[in-house]
Amino acid sequence: MSRRRAQLTPWRVAGGVADENTNPDAVVRETGWVFNNEIGDDLTLGDFVMSGNKEVNAYMRAFGMNDLDTNSLSILEIGSGIGRMTSRFTRRFASVVAADVDAAFLERCRETVARHGEVEKLRTLHVADGHSINLPEESVDVVFSYITLQHCAHADALRLTSEALRVVKPGGTVMLNYRTWVPADVMLQPAGAAVRALWKNRAIGPRVARQRWATRLGWQANRVGVAEVMALVAASGRGCREVLVFRNPSRRNLLSSSPAVVGGTRPEERPLPRANKSHWWLILRLS
Ligand SMILES: C[S@@+](CC[C@H](N)C(=O)[O-])C[C@H]1O[C@@H](n2cnc3c(N)ncnc32)[C@H](O)[C@@H]1O
Repeated sequence: MSRRRAQLTPWRVAGGVADENTNPDAVVRETGWVFNNEIGDDLTLGDFVMSGNKEVNAYMRAFGMNDLDTNSLSILEIGSGIGRMTSRFTRRFASVVAADVDAAFLERCRETVARHGEVEKLRTLHVADGHSINLPEESVDVVFSYITLQHCAHADALRLTSEALRVVKPGGTVMLNYRTWVPADVMLQPAGAAVRALWKNRAIGPRVARQRWATRLGWQANRVGVAEVMALVAASGRGCREVLVFRNPSRRNLLSSSPAVVGGTRPEERPLPRANKSHWWLILRLS
């Protein structure tokens, strides 16, 4: 594994566990926490998917998607994992492309959707290099990504953002979730770098990556600022009807160093109580 891709270790290790295990409930008990941070000896795939259903419904409502007839639209989910949210997307959209850097997760995602969603609407897509989405430009109506871009290398998070802008159709919607800086990063960032250094050690790395405490420190691989994403949107040349930043109500002025006009419109900030204090969402409605 290259130095640059140490942040992928926990996904590769969890993907290996998912690959070895044929019981989907056991996979959720062993690896589910990497997706929704829940642990327990009696967790089931059904509980896991239910947590994804609730989040899909809540975010679709918060981002105004309930005003659209999504049954006629296609969606790309970047970082689908083993399909926690994907099943719900297959019930709400006409077609779903589930993309992930881990091929074993995508196989599990297909099984999850076969049990809890509408698998005939699903296509899986391997993001083999961590940053390229193998879809034609302007080919999907909606792009969604949740708790994924914080786990990539910083450059990959930005390239995946550009990929989202490339593949979304005119009139489409982009919904991307990022992690930004919080005061605790003074401690968290060095601790995370130390864990990622341990992951690179072939002897102990995979064992450390199965430890929840260590993984939670090491996987927060990057922070992405609002201004750098806004600059990317502006540079993409894509016109927007609406450019929104959703953040926890306790955060303010995330847009302060962004360009005043992005994609031909003035970006706006909106409070979202369910958003983690360290997260923000980019919502774009394209012209
Ligand atoms: C915390 S999980 C979230 C999965 C899903 N969004 C959910 O909420 O259940 C992060 C996912 O991002 C995937 N991932 C990490 N880096 C990626 C990259 N560069 N490209 C695509 N997927 C990536 C991981 O394999 C993992 O499935």
